[in-house]
Amino acid sequence: MKAAVIYQPGGTENLILEDRQLPVAISDWVLVKVKAFGLNRSEVMTRKGLSPNVSFPRVLGIECVGEVAHDPAGKFEPGQKVAAFMGGMGREFDGSYAEFALLPGALLYPFESHLSWEQLGAIPEMFQTVYGSLHLALKIQKGETLLIRGGTSSIGMLSTQLAKNCGLTVLATTRKAEKKELLLNNGVDHVLIDDGYLEEKLKAIYPEGVDKVLELVGTATLKDSLRCTAPGGAVCMTGMLAEQWSMADFSPMDAIPSTVQLTIYDSGQVRVDQQSFQQFIREVEAGMVKLNISRTFSLSEISAAHQFMESNSAGGKIVVLTEA
Ligand SMILES: NC(=O)c1ccc[n+]([C@@H]2O[C@H](COP(=O)([O-])OP(=O)(O)OC[C@H]3O[C@@H](n4cnc5c(N)ncnc54)[C@H](OP(=O)(O)O)[C@@H]3O)[C@@H](O)[C@H]2O)c1
Repeated sequence: MKAAVIYQPGGTENLILEDRQLPVAISDWVLVKVKAFGLNRSEVMTRKGLSPNVSFPRVLGIECVGEVAHDPAGKFEPGQKVAAFMGGMGREFDGSYAEFALLPGALLYPFESHLSWEQLGAIPEMFQTVYGSLHLALKIQKGETLLIRGGTSSIGMLSTQLAKNCGLTVLATTRKAEKKELLLNNGVDHVLIDDGYLEEKLKAIYPEGVDKVLELVGTATLKDSLRCTAPGGAVCMTGMLAEQWSMADFSPMDAIPSTVQLTIYDSGQVRVDQQSFQQFIREVEAGMVKLNISRTFSLSEISAAHQFMESNSAGGKIVVLTEA
């Protein structure tokens, strides 16, 4: 099989496409024929050597959709459609940047759909992250105001749609004024241009602050996001687009306004249930949600796909198909 392997962390040229032996499934591991996978920012960080506890060589890729090729335990039928994400994929063991992936059976979500592999490939990690952040962590409610910091990211774009479908007012950020239309066309109510300090601009619209904040830029802007939050509101840090995991001199009594809640969502820790996953696929099929797929690459173009992600010009999800 073809696989994109990283031997040394570094630039996109370090993603080496090579022929490998097909992995052999034993006990509760399942061989999956990968059809498509979404590209993730965390894979860019892993490629650069910024993800803790990843050893090399490694086949990256924290998610995929495909068909079961062989399940020695007999739980899945050959050819059954499955999705997989996180749980150590592409970090602790080889992931989805390959024509086949050997995955723990417990990670697999069987599903039914008539969507194309391109569309299906955009869904698993993006949906799980958005659903987990908005519903499990922030517990969004109809009528609330939500600030999405990092609004043009694929997670930000889908979060906007799901929050609007739930009846929230959405404010979303970009650092670039020319991306304002992209956000408005996606349903955002107020676009804020983010230079790292939003509190004043946001409080000119909502003097008390907003009810909920989805922080996708990370620790670089987290303190400012906390100050944008109304008393009794909540901030969920889900992303770290600025590529910083931690902040120096964090003093909770100074950084967190009284009664504001700070939480995080990590798709590796709390997984969405299978029924919600299948229901989301049905909503996409019914046209209730648009996936905002920016561009599709083939596996042999994996370096170009990483470059495109780092250009910050995607404005949606990047998908890789294993068959050109
Ligand atoms: N916690 C979890 O379980 C989980 C799961 C999946 C993803 N994530 C995280 O969620 C975030 C979004 O992921 P994604 O794949 O949707 O990203 P993406 O689509 O690649 O995001 C691209 C956008 O990021 C913005 N951006 C890039 N660098 C930035 C910086 N230094 N400061 C502010 N904005 C910056 C750019 O916006 P502008 O140019 O418009 O400003 C760009 O449009 C990532 O941090 C990712 O790691 C977390």
